[in-house]
Amino acid sequence: MVSTPRLAHVVLQTAQPDVLTDWYCRLLDGHVVYSGKGLTFITFDDEHHRIALLTLPGPEQVRPPSAPGMHHVAFTFDDLDGLLERYQSLAQQGIRPVAPVQHGVTTSLYYRDPDGNYAEMQIDNFPIPDEATAYMEGPEYDADPVGPAFDVDLMVAARAQGAPVAELIRRAWALSGPRLPHPWELFAAAETA
Ligand SMILES: [Fe+2]
Repeated sequence: MVSTPRLAHVVLQTAQPDVLTDWYCRLLDGHVVYSGKGLTFITFDDEHHRIALLTLPGPEQVRPPSAPGMHHVAFTFDDLDGLLERYQSLAQQGIRPVAPVQHGVTTSLYYRDPDGNYAEMQIDNFPIPDEATAYMEGPEYDADPVGPAFDVDLMVAARAQGAPVAELIRRAWALSGPRLPHPWELFAAAETA
């Protein structure tokens, strides 16, 4: 029988570990389990660390936005209300997503950390993975595998007024709001902000 590994943690190199520690603890409602000798371990669940920060000696090298490498790490919530609650909590702390995207397969909020790394906070729009796969093989996804940006505050307000989750997580709902830039434009704007 073949063993299947699970994702354990992500390690980010940074020259400003204190700033990133604060940011990731806020983003993930996490806490530090170890800090010292250029290492900081952060967790928010039953794993001993999910995000680690590594500070190496020597001058910091800034990675250009288009450089090959990891684009983002995604964290998933059980339901839309949980995602929107975290969105509101972070917004109150001045942390706002640079790109809220209705992918169709997920409802995703992309945050940019103080070093320029992206973290996606999301929900799966389909309760069963096979349904998500079927959606990705369908015409809506084929026509546009990214999907439109959406207004999160409008979603929060609509949900508070009782709009059903099933309606809010459709691309049609995202497109019914104010016209927003394409997600790629939002990412590009974040890089130059
Ligand atoms: Fe993602």
